[in-house]
Amino acid sequence: MSSYDFMTKDELQKQLNVLKKRYQNFKLKNLKLDMSRGTLSKEQLDLSMPMLNILSNDSNFTSDSGIDYRNYGFSDGIWTLRYMFAQILNVKPFDVFVGGNSSLSMMFDVISLYMTHGACGKRPWSSYERGIKFLCPVPGYDRHFKILSHFGIEQIPIPMKKDGPDMNIIEEAVKSDELIKGIFCVPKYSNPQGIVYSDETVKRFSNLSPKSSDFRIFWDNAYAVHDLTGSCKFLLSLMNECLQNSTEDLPIMFCSTSKITFPGSGVAALAASQKNLLEIKRFYSFKTIGFDKLNQLRHAKFLKDYENILEHMKKHRKILRPKFQVVINCLSKEFSEQNKDIASWSEPKGGYFVSVDLYPGLAKQVIKMCKKAGVKLTDAGATFPNGIDPNDSNIRLAPTCLPANELALAMHLFCICIKLTAIEKKIKTLEDSCEHISN
Ligand SMILES: Cc1ncc(COP(=O)(O)O)c(C=O)c1O
Repeated sequence: MSSYDFMTKDELQKQLNVLKKRYQNFKLKNLKLDMSRGTLSKEQLDLSMPMLNILSNDSNFTSDSGIDYRNYGFSDGIWTLRYMFAQILNVKPFDVFVGGNSSLSMMFDVISLYMTHGACGKRPWSSYERGIKFLCPVPGYDRHFKILSHFGIEQIPIPMKKDGPDMNIIEEAVKSDELIKGIFCVPKYSNPQGIVYSDETVKRFSNLSPKSSDFRIFWDNAYAVHDLTGSCKFLLSLMNECLQNSTEDLPIMFCSTSKITFPGSGVAALAASQKNLLEIKRFYSFKTIGFDKLNQLRHAKFLKDYENILEHMKKHRKILRPKFQVVINCLSKEFSEQNKDIASWSEPKGGYFVSVDLYPGLAKQVIKMCKKAGVKLTDAGATFPNGIDPNDSNIRLAPTCLPANELALAMHLFCICIKLTAIEKKIKTLEDSCEHISN
């Protein structure tokens, strides 16, 4: 129920007229604002500018073992970064492989490898006539879904709960279906809800007993150090739990510095059991003689160590926190407790997004109206496999890039569009029910 349910048609119509006027006024502003992707603001990008000058003429380019970083070699990545990523992913440095500029492309590579060659001596995933399946916690990250669609992998939505995906469904599904080969997880500050998996959820992942022995957990820890408040949420180490249960071949873990230094020009890493790692490294040995070690080196010199990364992330937090507050304050002001079924939202303690759930059937229309008035949002359905949100309800907001004043404007428009579409729907329902009675 919402406050609109207690209004007469005339009262609703009056409210609608006021909102339509406000919407028209917004259109006159000729806005051009983009809240569609989790990009960094200029201020955030500026934080890492000193890194670009760090490899000066007098730099030492030689490793402790005498290898010149400007040359081929160190194909697993330079040690400082392996240590750093090991701490970020909560694994041992020996289990880390440092790659190129994108963790997403490493996820793509691993799935591609398993499709063509199989995982650890098993059948290639592409060889199953009926096709293979992945479990996909929803709402989730659109680019995970796009990788799976690219390879023709069926995607099974798994509802998210407050402490991670529904483990009852996952345990049952993997136990009984040999064609389920994997799951994508963003365990810390999930995209888009900002949920951190609880200890119990991580333990249950480490305890999975899939029917298929080449089932893999794609543990995308993209927001491992991206806290928005001082009290950072702790994520239990999946690898440690797996080691205790002898299930260490289950997870393949990923992270990158995309949202620490420069997206697209950062460094990505992957961590896995030695058995998985050996196979993945062999695959990469065919693909490249080595990744960009000079980029690795300047990241190592700039970021120094894990503790310094946390200090660096405090600077990001200082820029980002007020922006998230603008979003949450605006939603809280516009939608009282009474109207939570029209709009409810996540209040993340980290990550890059706010997830908004609208009354079913409103999301596409709200996004369309915002676009017409100059505010671009993530496409409706993007947070679901194949771009289809069965309830047409979820919208992902990305508040990171816009300055706070523009963000406030965009949010104001967003709230007007929600109310407007909700009232229109309510009036339509009233009219339909009157028609029904008179028939
Ligand atoms: C969950 C998640 N994983 C991965 C990425 C992309 O990471 P990278 O830039 O390292 O490819 C993003 C970017 O938004 C993301 O949200």
